[in-house]
Amino acid sequence: MIDPTLALATRGLRKSYGSRLALDGLDLSVPAGVVYGFLGPNGAGKTTTMRVLTGLIHADGGAVELLGRPFTRRDRHRLFDVGALVESPAFYPYLSGRENLRALAASGAPTPAGRIDEVLEIVGLRDRATDPVSRYSLGMKQRLGIGGALLNDPALLLLDEPSNGLDPAGIVAIRETLRHLASIGKTVFVSSHLLAEVQQMADVVGIIASGRLVREGSMQDLLVSEGVVRVRVEPAEVATATARLARLTAPDRVTPSRMEPGWISVQITPDRTSEVNRLLAEAGIFASGLSSGNDLEELFLTLTEDTTSGDPDGTFAGIDPSAGRLAPNEVLS
Ligand SMILES: Nc1ncnc2c1ncn2[C@@H]1O[C@H](COP(=O)(O)OP(=O)(O)O)[C@@H](O)[C@H]1O
Ligand SMILES: [Mg+2]
Repeated sequence: MIDPTLALATRGLRKSYGSRLALDGLDLSVPAGVVYGFLGPNGAGKTTTMRVLTGLIHADGGAVELLGRPFTRRDRHRLFDVGALVESPAFYPYLSGRENLRALAASGAPTPAGRIDEVLEIVGLRDRATDPVSRYSLGMKQRLGIGGALLNDPALLLLDEPSNGLDPAGIVAIRETLRHLASIGKTVFVSSHLLAEVQQMADVVGIIASGRLVREGSMQDLLVSEGVVRVRVEPAEVATATARLARLTAPDRVTPSRMEPGWISVQITPDRTSEVNRLLAEAGIFASGLSSGNDLEELFLTLTEDTTSGDPDGTFAGIDPSAGRLAPNEVLS
């Protein structure tokens, strides 16, 4: 069943590398004309998904719909409708940004005259178009790579962690570029392992873990759907506090943190924060920390906690599980 409002959909996508399952029945629904944040901790299967979608590898099973039509391995030519930046782009360092795009255009589908300057404008490199790429920052090279992916004027753009390794200014420039692309009607499917980054640029978010979709929806809905209040007590008081806090909601919605002893998460909206304090105080327990957030943040912290503990070789990087817990909603300290 094809849904024409979707630019991209995957159904039950599976992929193993030997005995290692990378995609475990992945279902994604990417509406047309949005920035879709494809979020997951390292090792979740984002790059594998991108490689399947761009025909670099074949899935073991499942289906892909691209721009309203099934996409099978006989449809490789249809990738001309899709722009992608999956591996880091390679450029000739001694050629300028414009010359590199010209070389790229010459090797692909015919590009109309004027398109190269249009693309340089879109990715914000017009002023630096004649500089050799060797003088570009990493962020500028990344934007030139996005420019290369835009040469065919694709309706759908697939970008695998385009902000990786960039400084804050570079990250902002990428975000603005992607927002601009959505504003001119493109669908941007962009992966990241950083919640904060996705929160700032995506209209729709899909969170994956271990090759499966765990949440998907509009950023707006996911952010306001449910709140989480986190409270810190003495580790010795965690059991008593957890039992009392269960009165505010269901017992399975009150979770002591495994990573940070003393912290307990309660799935209630932030406006009920004072009830947490009152219930605990009645039991003679005084919170030494209290913060509120949303369950998206909580969900992602939980997912990345799992990843860090299962990642002894340290390939996981970038998320500090305690980051953002207190600021900016800190009430007590
Ligand atoms: N070429 C490969 N050979 C074997 N295992 C791989 C290969 N590529 C990825 N994997 C494994 O597949 C899983 C998903 O990896 P990947 O798609 O790169 O995740 P992400 O991009 O989300 O970090 C991980 O467990 C990873 O170790
Ligand atoms: Mg990856």
